[in-house]
Amino acid sequence: MNVLIIGSGAREHAFCWKIKQSKKPTNLFVIPGNAGTAELAKNVNIPIDDFKKIKEIILKHKIQLLIIGPEIPLINGLSDFVKNDNEIRNTLLVGPSKNGSRLEGSKDFSKEFMLRHNIPTAPYKTFHQDSLKEGIKYLSEISPPYVLKADGPAAGKGVLIINDLFNAKEELINMLSNNKFGKSGHKVVIEGFLEGIELSCFLLFDGESYLNLPNAKDYKRIGDGDLGLNTGGMGSISPVPFADKEFISKVEKKIIKPTIDGIIKDGIDYVGFLFIGIIKVDDEPYVIEYNVRMGDPETQVVLPRIKNDFLDMMINTANGNLKSITLETEESIYANVVMVSGGYPQSYEKGKKIIGLDQNHDSIILHAGTKKEGNQILTNGGRVLSIISKSSELSIALKKSYNTISSIDFDKKYYRKDIGFDL
Ligand code: AMP
Ligand code: GLY
Repeated sequence: MNVLIIGSGAREHAFCWKIKQSKKPTNLFVIPGNAGTAELAKNVNIPIDDFKKIKEIILKHKIQLLIIGPEIPLINGLSDFVKNDNEIRNTLLVGPSKNGSRLEGSKDFSKEFMLRHNIPTAPYKTFHQDSLKEGIKYLSEISPPYVLKADGPAAGKGVLIINDLFNAKEELINMLSNNKFGKSGHKVVIEGFLEGIELSCFLLFDGESYLNLPNAKDYKRIGDGDLGLNTGGMGSISPVPFADKEFISKVEKKIIKPTIDGIIKDGIDYVGFLFIGIIKVDDEPYVIEYNVRMGDPETQVVLPRIKNDFLDMMINTANGNLKSITLETEESIYANVVMVSGGYPQSYEKGKKIIGLDQNHDSIILHAGTKKEGNQILTNGGRVLSIISKSSELSIALKKSYNTISSIDFDKKYYRKDIGFDL
């Protein structure tokens, strides 16, 4: 089977790695991919927002299945583009429509959706450029911390949590009037602050039936102790120890079922992954956000725990036949520590030689910001590698990942030393 994956992160390397374990032979293509995917697939270096070029690749390589990894092409309507094109409309597709992708692409849309379907989430109000005054007044009426969310996509940077009222007002003005976050910030959701511990729940949905995938927890901040700037993700763990049976059944009943029913009731065309960011507040689950894709770095610990043929799962999702699949999971605990370029998430250098990759490691190594030049693998982004290990004990899984990290080197390598510290 000819399969095309869109994206260039460790999430997409994980897709390739898992699909290559399928009993069905595959020809894999990745747009644009990285040095890791290049070992398993043919990388095609075109921009992920160039739909016409993506179509050319689908035709040229007779692609039968398309899996869209990141949110931006989904929010921009790549699925609709494929479905509406006479020459490529029969391509099996894992990735929701442009309308469905608004669950991630517009905070206001997703909050309205939750309100409409009685899904627990923080109370909120939305403000536009012409209701700035009302927004400022609203901030004065609520108590800190103030949670300000740019409505549109902002590469994970669009959520501001601010303690000081003056700063919160300032930032609201910056978004609504001074173009901070560009068009994405011309509408702002202000919502109540929820105090608790977060987890990421994942499912596959074929338009009728859904399948719960293993859950995971990610570590977003750059510094140990979960301090400092937000990043794309510095580590992850699956399963999540505090998500016991009782809590998960609450999540199922109060969040997952009403979300699926809501998507169907609203007539939203949705086939693909759904990622629900949940916060546990006093044993009760609330939705922080929806994402219309898998998480990164969560995928790197979720996929290794799935025993099923992942390619079959993708085909059956695209075909509307998820009912035929019963998930089988591995009980081991998986831990992922992300190696990044020093300076990330602010400015950092690229092109550093990575050494030690070809030694024997007791870990799975998945690439993100890497590229191959001649025989060398060089850093090519902020997040460089995901180092994943398993054990029946979290502490041992982590130790294995840290051991692997000690044998891999590049100039100014950085990683968090405390992944899993809170569990
Ligand atoms: P989001 O992009 O909506 O997931 O927000 C990014 C991060 O901000 C989340 O993962 C949370 O850690 C935090 N966050 C978002 N909304 C809230 C909230 N209402 N209360 C507390 N923390 C929040
Ligand atoms: N790990 C969070 C995300 O993928 O958005």
